[in-house]
Amino acid sequence: MPFSILTLIAIVLAGVTQGAFAEGPDAAALYAPCAACHGAAAEGNVALQAPRLNHLRPVYILTQLDKFHRGIRGGEGASVAAQQMAVSSGLLPSADHLPDLAFYITELKSGPSLATLEAGNAAAGGKTFMQLCGACHGMTAAGNVALNAPRLAGADDWYLRAQLHAFREGQRGQHREDRSGRQMRNMAAMLSDEQSILDVIAYIRNQAE
Ligand code: HEC
Ligand code: HEC
Repeated sequence: MPFSILTLIAIVLAGVTQGAFAEGPDAAALYAPCAACHGAAAEGNVALQAPRLNHLRPVYILTQLDKFHRGIRGGEGASVAAQQMAVSSGLLPSADHLPDLAFYITELKSGPSLATLEAGNAAAGGKTFMQLCGACHGMTAAGNVALNAPRLAGADDWYLRAQLHAFREGQRGQHREDRSGRQMRNMAAMLSDEQSILDVIAYIRNQAE
């Protein structure tokens, strides 16, 4: 695998157990170019369609940065937002600094994202989530590292909706090397309509701490 993402993930996992990646001024400098879109605390910016990042895990952030960098996400046929992020991956530091950057982002704190969507039915969404989503993302949407399934609890409602549409409409998860994206694309296709998307998002939003 190019760009040795597996090596990076190994470094990150070692860092978790050893507490090796302390937050510091260097990591803040690495994040500075990202803050212009994602916000000073990685709280997201709906006007720029740049999502919250501080609820995610380092391994998922590294995996997605690698995808953007290689054009597996944000390449041909992707949404304008995803293409923008693919271009922005040119701002990334060298590979050996990426784990520090990812850890720095996940240590940032901010209040919950404001609701921007018409509220769905969380009870109906919960049923759908248990049937179709919980096996990978966890019943409380906390994510599952072993399955590459990101945490969804805490994410912006508008971003969840945009990504479910991007998967359904083949803007994300369409690259033949994007195995985890393709998996999720098949699942997004199983949501029957817009109402079921809003319902599932209402359930996910209720899971945020
Ligand atoms: C020009 C604005 C812009 C800049 C600068 C930018 N991003 Fe993004 N980023 C975006 C947008 C827009 C998206 C959403 C892409 C989509 O909809 O698929 C995104 C998505 C992401 C994601 C995926 C989140 C997820 O839940 O899958 C990560 C991780 C990320 N950015 C990290 C970074 C980092 C780290 C930097 C700094 C090197 C950075 N971004 C700089 C606009 C930006
Ligand atoms: C087979 C396992 C699996 C199932 C079932 C599944 N997902 Fe996913 N999901 C994934 C994986 C893997 C990713 C990461 C894709 C990538 O790497 O680009 C993902 C990504 C996502 C994202 C993008 C998050 C982000 O930060 O960009 C959303 C939203 C999402 N899933 C929602 C759902 C919903 C809602 C359901 C139920 C309808 C569901 N998923 C079912 C595996 C799954």
